[in-house]
Amino acid sequence: MYRTNTCGELNMQHVGKEVCLAGWVQRTRKMGSMTFVDLRDRYGITQLVFNEGYDAALNERAARLGREFVIQVRGKVSERENKNPNMPTGDIEIIVSELNILNESLTPPFTIEDNTDGGDDLRMKYRYLDIRRQSVKKNLELRHRFAFEVRNYLNQQGFLEIETPILVNSTPEGARDFVVPSRMNPGQFYALPQSPQTLKQLLMVSGMDKYFQIVKCFRDEDLRADRQPEFTQIDCEMSFVEQEDILQTFEGMSRHLFKTILNVDIPSLPRITWADAMKYYGSDKPDTRFEMKFVELMDVLKGTGEFSVFNEAEYIGGICAKGQAVYTRKQLDQLTDFVKRPQIGAKGLVYARVQEDGSVKSSVDKFYSEEVLKTLKAAFDAEPGDLILILSGEDTMKTRKQLCELRLEMGERMGLRPKNQYSCLWVVDFPMYEWSEEEQRLMAMHHPFTSPKPEDIGLLDTAPEKVRANAYDMVINGVEVGGGSIRIHDAKLQQKIFEILGFTPEQAQAKFGFLMNAFKYGAPPHGGLAYGLDRFVSLFAELDSIRDCIAFPKNNSGRDVMLGAPGPLGDEQFDELQIKLDLKA
Ligand code: AMO
Repeated sequence: MYRTNTCGELNMQHVGKEVCLAGWVQRTRKMGSMTFVDLRDRYGITQLVFNEGYDAALNERAARLGREFVIQVRGKVSERENKNPNMPTGDIEIIVSELNILNESLTPPFTIEDNTDGGDDLRMKYRYLDIRRQSVKKNLELRHRFAFEVRNYLNQQGFLEIETPILVNSTPEGARDFVVPSRMNPGQFYALPQSPQTLKQLLMVSGMDKYFQIVKCFRDEDLRADRQPEFTQIDCEMSFVEQEDILQTFEGMSRHLFKTILNVDIPSLPRITWADAMKYYGSDKPDTRFEMKFVELMDVLKGTGEFSVFNEAEYIGGICAKGQAVYTRKQLDQLTDFVKRPQIGAKGLVYARVQEDGSVKSSVDKFYSEEVLKTLKAAFDAEPGDLILILSGEDTMKTRKQLCELRLEMGERMGLRPKNQYSCLWVVDFPMYEWSEEEQRLMAMHHPFTSPKPEDIGLLDTAPEKVRANAYDMVINGVEVGGGSIRIHDAKLQQKIFEILGFTPEQAQAKFGFLMNAFKYGAPPHGGLAYGLDRFVSLFAELDSIRDCIAFPKNNSGRDVMLGAPGPLGDEQFDELQIKLDLKA
């Protein structure tokens, strides 16, 4: 037996017990005739003591142990003289009688401590060492518990976990596919699934009326803090359900996860329509940890004064930052620079401070009467000490998005976005389509299998851009953690939707014939959703990036710097695949 106990469990109850521990040397300290070694494993750190008076040779060997050596020790648990209340094992130490070096180690390239001296790149290159650090390890432990509780809940609800293939053909989720050449079918390629969307719908046709899968998905898209090229979904689908059943079932799952993992009781999830989310927050994933809703000001400021910027605007809107009238000119200039950054793209920022006497002092005073400024104040219910920030523009959606960035920035500055407070909601009634400037056509906002709201079906022919979908997203703290829809289960309606998306019947048949044919054999009404597991876990772990809860993530260029992937292939592999590589410069 390598060990009788772990390095995280011994305490005063074990004093006097003979134990055997194994782990890594965190550090050694020589103090007079004693050598202290911190021994680490997955469970914690235990202090070992080697005493010269007791065994000089043993003490000598202990003093020479290097960082990260793998050792096994035998000894007796003893009460410490200087207890460490910050460690679960801080009351005891092991008086070692036997030391066995299981493996030596090179000096690690960075310290294996929470506050490591290793930069991002170095830690990613040696990720297996990085994972030894408590701060990384605990995220993987949390992820495990999270996935476990997902399975627990869904199993209790009668869901079956069913695996679907990874070598499939293209699935239309709007990103580019990763493709895999087929040796046995030269010139033909598999695509890795962007999600198991069509397969889970086929499982509904099969009668597997409650399906889920914790599954890898692959999307070749530009990476950000909340995006990885391969990520994990909790993918779910149900038959004989309406939107309400799905929202209830998965609100229940979220409640279960918050309670069992964080011991947090979340209130029933508010629902907001997509249109209102855009109107009040300028985002389909609003951060509702704080209010600061948008107020539209077209009536108040357009045409009521001489300010040409507002008079020419298509949209004028603002937010009220409570108690922030103390902002100095310099701070306001910084905010103006913030909204003018190319990533945000606003032309400028107008502000108005509500003074102690209730009067309004704004950067556009000279263009507006006092009366108008009073109306402005009233529009926000603003009080003395408040700061009103206003943006305008020619494009309503674009300006709202800019105002959204400003709102989030103010929320951040005012400390209104604490990571350990959670605000969850459903965003519902998404539009079916959005206009793609790039492709100059309507695209499915969610995916082409989403059903329109029955009351909007009449608009499909006349005003498709106005059609709302039976689609919903779950949003937590401004992060889209999941999304789904009620699906089309009628082959004819599906055909029509493909037409509106610009597919000819032949193209639709070639791409999705398998699904439309399946729908001819008794497809039940069905719907579902998928959560981004990495995003959900990183919210629970209060992380800035989903990378930190993934054991071996990719960097921003999609590379695994530890494995050196992606990498070139040998000529023989190309020959086998009958592929001639001709890279365009
Ligand atoms: P959707 O494309 O909205 O829906 O994806 C579902 C959830 O997956 C997460 N997600 C990602 N997480 C990390 N990195 C990425 N690159 C990434 N892309 C998406 C998000 C998102 O909410 N088949 C549908 C679901 C359905 O209709 O049932 C789908 O995949 O948290």
